[in-house]
This record gives sequence, structure tokens and C-alpha cells, in this order.
Amino acid sequence: MCGIVGFTGTTPAAGFLLDGLEKLEYRGYDSAGIAVAENGRFQIEKTVERIKNLQNKTNDGGTVPGNIGIGHTRWATHGVPSIANAHPHVSGNEKFAVVHNGIIENYMALREELIADGVCFASETDTEVIPHLLAKYDNGDFFEAVAKTVERLEGSYALGILCSDAPDTLIAVRKFSPLIIGLSENANFIASDVTALVSHTKDILYIEDGEIAVLTPSGVSLYDKNKNEISRATSVINWDVEAAEKGGFNHFMMKEINEQPNAVRQTIESRLHGRDIVFEDMKLDEEKLKTIRRIDIIACGSAYHAGMVGKYVFEELLRIPTNVDLASEYRYRNPITDEHTLTIIISQSGETADTLAALKEAKARGSHVLSIVNVVGSSIAKASDDVLYTWAGPEIAVATTKGYSTQLSVLYLLAIWGARLLHSADEQRLEDIFDDLCRLPELMEQLLQNEEQIRLLAKRCGDPSSLFFIGRNIDYAVSLEASLKLKEISYIHSEAYAAGELKHGTISLIEQGRIVLALACNEDLFEKLLSNVKEVKARGAYVIACATEGHTEIAKEAEEVLYIPKVDPLLSASLEVIPFQIYAYYVALYKGCDIDKPRNLAKSVTVE
Ligand code: AGP
Repeated sequence: MCGIVGFTGTTPAAGFLLDGLEKLEYRGYDSAGIAVAENGRFQIEKTVERIKNLQNKTNDGGTVPGNIGIGHTRWATHGVPSIANAHPHVSGNEKFAVVHNGIIENYMALREELIADGVCFASETDTEVIPHLLAKYDNGDFFEAVAKTVERLEGSYALGILCSDAPDTLIAVRKFSPLIIGLSENANFIASDVTALVSHTKDILYIEDGEIAVLTPSGVSLYDKNKNEISRATSVINWDVEAAEKGGFNHFMMKEINEQPNAVRQTIESRLHGRDIVFEDMKLDEEKLKTIRRIDIIACGSAYHAGMVGKYVFEELLRIPTNVDLASEYRYRNPITDEHTLTIIISQSGETADTLAALKEAKARGSHVLSIVNVVGSSIAKASDDVLYTWAGPEIAVATTKGYSTQLSVLYLLAIWGARLLHSADEQRLEDIFDDLCRLPELMEQLLQNEEQIRLLAKRCGDPSSLFFIGRNIDYAVSLEASLKLKEISYIHSEAYAAGELKHGTISLIEQGRIVLALACNEDLFEKLLSNVKEVKARGAYVIACATEGHTEIAKEAEEVLYIPKVDPLLSASLEVIPFQIYAYYVALYKGCDIDKPRNLAKSVTVE
């Protein structure tokens, strides 16, 4: 996820910018840059290496004097990691310099408009439209140019903006992307998070969505979206750098669990033009889609579990037979595929060795390969015919959470997009599913409020030797993910079972006190699942159920019930998984496990 810093003061800016960018390294980045202004001129330095390289290039900031500047670490979204795509970006007349975190969703339309005005673009980024818009709206008033520019932007952004005509003024704007302001006697700062600020100041001013902040060395003025000046009290933070990196959470995993609503919002909204779903530059078009007779989803681990959900969603909405394969199995079984098969590869890292090898097998046999990947420019992204990125930002905890959730979001988008083209599902239901999809981020936020209930539940359950997750259809697919989350970070044996399969063997393991987590969010199969709950109860199981709000009858059977808001059952996975991520987290926490770096596991499995 990109990181931003900015400085305006009575001393040189570069030292703070380089130090701040180094502190933001933990967020993940592939390139970085700074712009420092002196005597109405910007000096810009960029790198596709580490921040250390920028420090060396500038002699620790010595070669870029000037008391005002902005800096950026880039996590590539639009355009590969390169010097041209690294921020800051400047207007053609070199009057405005901009750093940006977020995604400008309408950048294609803005880019076309600006090109028609005669603007030349130097990068592939969505960000570059911003300095050009600033130049377009420039009538000598920096603030007005910013206000007019942000009116044109759709999507998410945190911006740090400099104007060569305003030698000590730094303007910051924020909408759906993080940005805070730091205050001190002789300088004021902006940063993506407090990590970059804690060694310089503890006085923080929070800027809210839609607000514009004007910083000079002597003060900060804050304006609402109607350009009215507002006042806000400062807050004092007492975090150390380590706590600040984790956003105040104790572990990256919990931070990332809490980032899910925004990650999902970004992933979905960046593909919406009103109610239309638009995948820019996708080669898989209506004509090609109509030739597809089968879908193969291939992945490993949690990405495979997301694919399992995808199978149910695709078969229901597209009515195209869909297989889900483990990449390590697919690659070695001489797979049968051809140009009428759409291969969907899912991978957070984009570097998983088995998944990449499976992709190559499918492609070599003529299948169209579409990948769902989080890391721009990764090996899987590069090898695919089409890539749909999940805009989750870097995931640091080994146990994936926001990676999985954003993969689900892309699968839903793809299914609705395809079903609309193929007319393969009831139109009204499709529109209702679309409405529910748009509500998911808000409902996820609501669910995260239940953390305390789940913490207490995890504490009560202690450290069982083994437990079971059961569910049917999508609930079963989520059971697989819930079970993996628990075992990978808590080292407790757990098994996910299709509830209807219990009686074919596994039920012999159910005994007095055995914890069974029953996922019962599929409304159509609720009664069936209830019968399975009765079966395990009769053999002494301690049942924790997860059901949709309103299905209170399950409380008569289960010892504990976790409720999720009602959405179309095809989307329930996105909500249902959250309580179990939190459950796994707290079980592991109470056991004293190394949550972010569980034993024997790596974040990116680049070997077979
Ligand atoms: C999930 O928590 C695991 N870290 C693991 O199963 C992971 O999903 C798997 O290794 C696949 O990784 P990828 O998405 O980067 O390809």
C-alpha cells in the first residue's frame, strides 16, 4: 500500500522525508520518490530500489535542499514498478507536484479529456491525471485549483500537493485513504500513518474524508468539502514505532482483518461505472465468454478456498460447469483443457510456484488464463492473458485475511458481469445481488464490532486438541478457510467437513465436549444443517453456530451462536469468514503463538 509523507518548515525537508519513507517501508513498496522545492523549482529523485538507495543518491538529503517537500513509497496498481510510474508526478508546466495513495477510478475518462486538451502523459498511472488537472484549473489560486481538481476525482485518495508558486504551502486532501497531519513548532507534516511521525511529534491532527488541509511552517488550516474553514482539536499519541506500524493493533493479522471493509470497497468500487461492472482492458469479452464451456479455478491454500466459493457462485449465476483444483495436483495430471475452457488462477502473492506452473500447463494447452492477483507485475500477473487485481494492499501477516476477502469480491464481480452478458440468471436476482455486493463493506464494518463477543468465546473454548467445522455448499467452502485459519496460526488440529458427509465416517470422532463449529448461513439448506447439528449434539458435541440474523431457532441447539447480516446466500462467505478469522486470532493469542509468523510457514511459497 502506498505511503505518503510531506513537510513544510523552517529547516530542510529532505531529512524528514527520507526518514519518514523508511518508516513506511513496512507497508510494502516497489519504488519511491521525493520532490523538494527550493526557489520555486522542484528537485525530484526516484528509485525502484530501497529507500536506502534514495538516501545514497541524495547524500542523505544533502543534494536536495529546500524547506518543503513530499515523498512517496509506491505499491504498484496502475502501471508496473518503474521510475516513470514512481511518484511524485508533476504537471506539464512543472508547477504542481503530487503524491497519491489510493485509486482514481475515473482516471481513464480524465486521461482522455486531458489528452484531448493537448496534455502529454509521462506515466501509466492513474495519479498523473491529478497534476494535469491542477494545471488545467490553475488561475493563480493554489487552494482553488486543488478544490476544483478533487471535485473531478472519483475513487479513493490521500494527496500531498506542492505548487512552485506557493513556496511554503503544502496542501493535503483525503477521501477513503489514510492521511494524518503532524504538528510541531517549526514544521508541520503529513503522513500515511503515525509511524513516520512519532519520532518528530506526538501532536496529531486527524483529517476526515473530503477535507482539505493547508499546511505552512507556522500552522495548519482545515476546510470542509464546502471550503468552509473548520477547527478540530489535536490528539496526542503515545505509540512507539512498532505499535504505529501496526496501526495500534498488536498484530498485522488483526490490522489486516480490520482493513477488509476498505480493501473490499476499493476492489469493488474501482470496477463500477454506476451499476455497470467494467473490467478495463480485459481480453475476455462477450464474444469470447460465449464460447466458454467450462471454468477451471486453480489455486493453493486460502486462494483455493476462495475458488471453492467461486464454483458455487459461477455455477449458480453463469450456469457454466466449474471445477476447482489445487495447483499442485493440476500441474501433474496431464490436465484436459482447451480454448473453450476459461482458467481462473487465484493468488495473493502472484508468485506461488505450484500455481504458476499450473497456469503454464493450462496456457500451453490453449486455455484462456485470467488471474486474480494482489501484486502488480508479479510472475502470475505477467504470465496471464488477463489480470484482475485485488486492491488489498500489501498483506504482511502470513495468514491471509484481506487477500481472501478481496479475491471473493473479484469472483462476485466476474460472476455478475458474466451473468448479465449471458442472461444466465434471473435479472432481478442479479440486481439484488449487485446491491448486496455494494453493501458488503458496510456490513463487514458492522461485523467487526462483534470482536469482543468472539474474543470471549475463544477464551472460553481454550485450547482443544481437535475441532471440526461443518457446513454445506458455500458454508462448506467457508469452513475450509475457517479451519485453515485456525490451524495455521494456533497449531490446533481442525478439520472442515461437508456436513452431509459426517455420517460416512467422521462422526465417529465426535465425542463428549468436542467443539463443532457449524456454519449455517445458507438459507436453503438451513434445515439440513440443523439436522447435522442435532446429530453431533446427540453425540456430545459442543456446538458453536454461525447463522444469518433472524434464524434464532438454531440457538435452541447450539451452545453459542454468531449472527451475520442477511445478504444473498451467494455472498454470505464474505461476512461469515470474519468471525472465524477473529476466532482463530484470539485462540492463537491465548495460546501465545507467533500470530503473524506461524512456524514452518512462509508468506509467499515460491518453491514447490
Ligand atoms: C493462507 O493463510 C496461507 N498463507 C496460504 O494457504 C496461502 O493462501 C497459499 O500459500 C496461497 O498463496 P497465494 O495466494 O500467494 O498464491
